[in-house]
Amino acid sequence: MAKRRQMKLGAMLLGVGRGNSTWRHPDAVTDASINLEVYKQWVRKAEEGKLDLIFIADGLYIEPKSIPHQLNRFEPISLLSALASESTHIGLVGTVSTSYSEPFNVARQFASLDMISNGRAGWNLVTSTLDSTALNFGGKGRQGHPEHNLRYQIAAEFVQVVRGLWDSWEDDAFVRDKASGVFFDPAKMHTLNHHGEYFAVKGPLNIARSEQGQPVIFQAGTSDAGRDFAAREADAIFTGIEHETIEESVAFYHDVKTRVASYGRDPDDVLIFPVVAPIIGRTEGEAEDKYEQIASLVSIEDALNNLCRYFEYYDFSSCLLDEPFPEVGELGRNGFRSTTDRIKANAKEGGLTLRQVALQVATPRNAFIIGTSTQVADRIQQLFDAGGADGFMLGAVLPTGLEDFVDEVVPILQRRGLFRSEYASNTLRGNLELPIPRNRNHVAAR
Ligand SMILES: Cc1cc2nc3c(=O)[nH]c(=O)nc-3n(C[C@H](O)[C@H](O)[C@H](O)COP(=O)(O)O)c2cc1C
Repeated sequence: MAKRRQMKLGAMLLGVGRGNSTWRHPDAVTDASINLEVYKQWVRKAEEGKLDLIFIADGLYIEPKSIPHQLNRFEPISLLSALASESTHIGLVGTVSTSYSEPFNVARQFASLDMISNGRAGWNLVTSTLDSTALNFGGKGRQGHPEHNLRYQIAAEFVQVVRGLWDSWEDDAFVRDKASGVFFDPAKMHTLNHHGEYFAVKGPLNIARSEQGQPVIFQAGTSDAGRDFAAREADAIFTGIEHETIEESVAFYHDVKTRVASYGRDPDDVLIFPVVAPIIGRTEGEAEDKYEQIASLVSIEDALNNLCRYFEYYDFSSCLLDEPFPEVGELGRNGFRSTTDRIKANAKEGGLTLRQVALQVATPRNAFIIGTSTQVADRIQQLFDAGGADGFMLGAVLPTGLEDFVDEVVPILQRRGLFRSEYASNTLRGNLELPIPRNRNHVAAR
């Protein structure tokens, strides 16, 4: 019998949790976002479940209305470097923005993480959504927040530079022969000499390639420019929980894979990971109670603070709560475009008030999978079998969400032959079954 196609699984580790109120849950550790012990426990749990990767999100601007996790949290690469020594097989994926970093630094940081972890690093490449991020990166010669399309043009050149730098050294460049005194072979060291529209970078990079060749690049573009960028440049794509129906997920999957093929790439070499956000109970009733408990922690003030993040921190307190969702024009279009478009469309279609919209966005019932472990596994399998995903990113809703998933849902997926019981490799590319990128200089030099 042909081997069943198996899914990939990742887990978002989100400190005190998504939204404004999860930190108040009885099981929440209130300083989890800066508590290394909590992250260590999570990475061990994720590895116990044989998950492919853990993922650390990031942003570069806060203000008093930011969600608690964003106010006080670890920088991703530092955190992942610490977690590398707590783990042996799981991928370590962290977020860094191409709009507010230099390619040389980014190439070096991820190459180091890749070497430290023996080939388990991944970069979630983002272009930064919030206009206000520019306020933290001002100074002479700097020019505010780039608009949406420009951010992706910059990112496209950025990633070329990073990949070029990652190929600075051929795998056998370092001879390290004490007797002859030869440390490296200069013919196997390659200088990039990049002169582009946005960057000028000579190289070479001062670190070699890891066991997996290059870190895995993840991207989460949802707009047209974003999807296109991902299809051209990424190894894997995260998508949010906005695809509420299986048909929408399948359509997204098909769209991205078609774009991948149109760039001459093998559609299997770009993996699509929708986020799943389960709330797992021993019975359906218990799962419902858990949802109600999370929802009841959200005050209307919290919900409005959460909502305004997407609309450039628009002050909704001046609007009437029980009147139709206000006209906000183009606010947020340069940042969370697909999210704001969806919120506005849902409000219009459903004739929703501001209060209803804010509470729905804070704990989006439709976007969660609420049920028993078997129901959660069924739903995930349904989406996988329908062709809407290559794998899933667990976005835990409850503080114990990762534990519940690994203990209760993973064994069901394993029994069904849908998920591995042992790691196949100790690199991230190996487990994701992604090819090791050929060193462009290796071939060019021969
Ligand atoms: C699962 C997921 C994780 C994301 N993580 C981050 C993040 O950590 N930091 C960030 O600035 N943006 C993050 N984003 C936002 C995306 O990078 C992207 O900007 C967004 O999906 C909008 O797409 P667009 O850029 O094509 O408009 C994430 C999106 C998704 C779906």
